[in-house]
Amino acid sequence: MTMTERLTDIAAKAFAEAGYTDVPVAVTFSDRPDLCQFQSNSCFAAAKQYKKAPFMVADDVAAVLGRNEIFEKAEGVKPGFINLTLTDKAIAEMTGELSADEHLGVPQYDNEMIVIDYGGPNVAKPLHVGHLRSAIIGQSLKLIARACGCTAVGDTHLGDWGLQIGLVIAELEERHPEWAVFSPDFREGGEVPELTAEMLTEVYPTASAKSKTDEAFRDKAHTATFDLQNRREGYIALWKEIMRVSGADLKSNYDKLNVDFEYWYGESDADAYIPELMDILEKKGLSYESDGALVVDVAEETDKAPVPPVIVRKSDGSSIYATTDLATIIQRERDFAPSKIWYVIDNRQEMHLTQVFRCARKAGLVPESTELSFLGFGTMNGKDGKPYKTRDGGVMRLSDMIGTVTDAALARIEEQGKVSEADREEYARRIGVAAIKFGDLINHRAKDYIFDMDKFLSAEGKTGVYILYTVSRINSILRKAAEQGITFDEDKFEIFTDSERELMLKLLGSGESWKTAFAERAPSFICENVYQICVSFSHFYHESRIIDEEDAAKKNARLALITLTRRIITAHLDALGIETVEMM
Ligand code: ARG
Repeated sequence: MTMTERLTDIAAKAFAEAGYTDVPVAVTFSDRPDLCQFQSNSCFAAAKQYKKAPFMVADDVAAVLGRNEIFEKAEGVKPGFINLTLTDKAIAEMTGELSADEHLGVPQYDNEMIVIDYGGPNVAKPLHVGHLRSAIIGQSLKLIARACGCTAVGDTHLGDWGLQIGLVIAELEERHPEWAVFSPDFREGGEVPELTAEMLTEVYPTASAKSKTDEAFRDKAHTATFDLQNRREGYIALWKEIMRVSGADLKSNYDKLNVDFEYWYGESDADAYIPELMDILEKKGLSYESDGALVVDVAEETDKAPVPPVIVRKSDGSSIYATTDLATIIQRERDFAPSKIWYVIDNRQEMHLTQVFRCARKAGLVPESTELSFLGFGTMNGKDGKPYKTRDGGVMRLSDMIGTVTDAALARIEEQGKVSEADREEYARRIGVAAIKFGDLINHRAKDYIFDMDKFLSAEGKTGVYILYTVSRINSILRKAAEQGITFDEDKFEIFTDSERELMLKLLGSGESWKTAFAERAPSFICENVYQICVSFSHFYHESRIIDEEDAAKKNARLALITLTRRIITAHLDALGIETVEMM
């Protein structure tokens, strides 16, 4: 139960005891922390129901609440609010419970099985920054869901079956017609050339550019795609080699970012489910021919803008993006029977997913109770407000971007000279990851944002670096305490100052942020909360003696408080996929 849920329960009982039953009651953090810590606005609804002035209801309920010893103050104020403030003793006790809670106050939703579709890289094409957001947000949503007790698995839905492979095959065939894989007689076990990531990096853009001007080449690429999908053996062998090289490259990039996937299924894995899909669509009378293609109507009367029919088979017989997405739903239902499937994809693909979900519902591919959610994200822009590009105007490659940020972090570490030679590279990677991820996740996922490396690497403001810096401060105090042989009781909390109280309330309020982050599928709430905790910690840190505090009780309480603060900050960072560093 979160802090406000707990207070809501207490307040609901008080409303009933004061004679106001069946009233919807809520207690929230106060809008006016200068007046009180919590408030309830529920007297207005009760007043309507009971035909009384709201402040009279507030007085009645506050009188009941006032008898509860956890409240320092419970008062009705005009026009009809209830203001609540807890005693320091109650806050310290709740903090002790929080520290003892194995979930550290994170609400648990344990009967969810969630499949999260994120990353979505395309084999043979370089990863660009557009794929960055999907990877970062999807990974974080997976970790948040897990922290909340859910079972969550990531599936990257590799683009491994489309035209881009046909383009690469056609280009390689023009360059190396002598390769055995291009012979129609090629059989499994034949000789397959060894490719490298550098080759693919060069081949795809060349082929893609060529296809735009050279019609004959474009046709070849289409034919190659079609033949691949119809399992021409030489193409399959070459495709497997492309997958091997590209997969290793993708994994190394994701590794650097602390992004991982339980499943590396691709569009090609959906292939086996396409006949079944077609069968269902036909039997239910949903699919029909239109201009040689097979389509399903998905428009609804209430649509404000037209939603075109979804094409499930093109006139040349090949299946397309929507087909694979639909077939993948069958596969996911069979493999995982998920209660939710989340798609973390660029906002610009919303129409595609709307069509796919509607078609899936009509066809009954998943039970009605299964949530299918499009969790769209906005564009990462450069400082000019346009989609992020390299200096020469090209598409920024993800590996280059990670490199740039890591290098900048390394330069700072070297300048400060605090970190040992041996640790510098790993520190720079972690700080770089924190800068990139926090800089992204602090923005609500649906919004566009500006990638500003200097800002992201700043030690002030809402940055990953600031959060890591806070942790390193706590580390330093606890390290010194250990060096001096100071021992303390980690579960003994007590309040002596305003800033201690403020920090404890922030820690206790975290459950609320987890709840919102999960409900809105938005990691930004976790970022904002951990930032607020760090700000409160700073206030506390600047005005408190800790190690050199003479009063033993105060010293213990403060060491316990910073220990818990570090645990809670770390739990937030864990869910963002950000690792900390010992010192900065
Ligand atoms: N590969 C796609 C792209 O680069 C993204 C895949 C998203 N996932 C999905 N199930 N459609 O645009």
